[in-house]
Amino acid sequence: MNELDFSTTIGNAWFPSPIFTASGCASSGRELAQFFPLHDIGGVVTKSVMNKARHGRPTPRMAETPSGMLNSIGLQGPGIDAFIAKDIPYLIEQKARIIVSIAGETVEEYATLARKLRSVAGISALEVNISCPNVENRGLVFACDPDASRRVIDGVRRTIGGEIPIIAKLSPDVTDLVAIAQGVVESGADALALINTVLGMVINLDTMRPHLGGTTGGLSGPAIRPIAVRAIYQVHAALPKTPILGMGGVSTGRDALEMIAAGASAVSIGTASFTNPTALISVQSELKELLRIKGFESLRGAVGFAHRPEGVVQ
Ligand code: SIN
Repeated sequence: MNELDFSTTIGNAWFPSPIFTASGCASSGRELAQFFPLHDIGGVVTKSVMNKARHGRPTPRMAETPSGMLNSIGLQGPGIDAFIAKDIPYLIEQKARIIVSIAGETVEEYATLARKLRSVAGISALEVNISCPNVENRGLVFACDPDASRRVIDGVRRTIGGEIPIIAKLSPDVTDLVAIAQGVVESGADALALINTVLGMVINLDTMRPHLGGTTGGLSGPAIRPIAVRAIYQVHAALPKTPILGMGGVSTGRDALEMIAAGASAVSIGTASFTNPTALISVQSELKELLRIKGFESLRGAVGFAHRPEGVVQ
């Protein structure tokens, strides 16, 4: 039997495995590295970093929900300079493949981040997070506005140059996701991350007030998986050549395969790591085994399979 080709590509970046951390759920990988070598997975997508250090939103910042959780972290982080000085060298030392996630409050901030990162060695790709739901002003969720999303991606593309692939991270909380996806790809995104968390809210019935300090939060976990699968399927149908990094409630190899069949070329694991820190490793081996059982010779052969007419095998 032929060896399974489990590799994937995002733009010009090659990865030996399609399983990545999800931005925000593993910071820069230090906590997960206690459980497995970071180079054993496809790559580490770091917590979205902003230009300046940031405290994030007031507590409480998390709530458990049926089959999921809400977070309202608010992009807490060290700022790009400290991140470049401490986190990138750490990840390089771990031989991890690095996808740096950036977030900004203005189009210019994204460009500034890209400028600071463009000469940093060892970065495989850049995730441009234009969809964080935990901002004071919903008007700052660039991914909810076709023009604003295009402007951010265009600014990053011009600044970073052509070498580093750009992955635009989009929100499912829009009426026409395909139009936003087409816009950012036309503006220079090589790939798409689908989906960020879904805007949600919990009321604390003891206080009869919003539970989260930030009032609303982002819903993640298995509760949102069908939304993610739908988003991936719709976008892959419209943009079949654009690689998609799928995410949203994946905790098993079957969940990952569902996203791949819908059109994802790689899959990120986030919330599942909170309860099972080795989830990335188990999803990776389960997915490999499932692809073999189903007779695939490569991961690529399964990408977008659900779009093919009945009877087409590979
Ligand atoms: C946060 O830090 O608030 C979460 C970031 C995100 O969901 O994009």
